[in-house]
Amino acid sequence: MTDKKTAVKNKSSQSGIKKESLDEIISRYAGKPGGLLGILEEAQELNRHKYLKRGQLEYIACKTGIPLSRIYNIITFYAFFNLKPQGEHSIIVCRGTACHTRGSKNLLDFLINLFGFKENDFSRDGKLSLTTKDNKFTIKTVACFGQCALAPVVEIDGNIYGRMTTEKIRKVIKKISHRGKK
Ligand code: FES
Repeated sequence: MTDKKTAVKNKSSQSGIKKESLDEIISRYAGKPGGLLGILEEAQELNRHKYLKRGQLEYIACKTGIPLSRIYNIITFYAFFNLKPQGEHSIIVCRGTACHTRGSKNLLDFLINLFGFKENDFSRDGKLSLTTKDNKFTIKTVACFGQCALAPVVEIDGNIYGRMTTEKIRKVIKKISHRGKK
């Protein structure tokens, strides 16, 4: 076995990643333009909490020959990718100018209070990603959804809600929290 193959085998066995699934994904995107994005997107979906594990990234780097540093650059550029486990439900609040003017900061503060996040739970670098301890909800921010006419805009579990209010958010959260309990 070559050194490269041995390295790939060791990395996958150490980190408990789904090697066969990753192999299948990588081979499907082989040679395609923008293939790495597709690989990362699908690799993230392999994890229940929708994030990319270090072991997955090392495995992808070894198999594709793409430097790990480049892979990390891509992941940190796109808000879609996560390096930490995500909640079952995602709530993304737009913090663009139009949404800010129409009260998105209030919506964000409402959510932070609702889920009991503390000041030291989040950094002040403009990027926010907070997950509740029970892994039920993740709150994030985005620079703009491109739906400024509907400001303030919030995305909940992939659905866009325009002209959002705290009351509407409360209702949607109540609805999705009860889903699957029957
Ligand atoms: S600023 Fe919020 S959708 Fe554009």
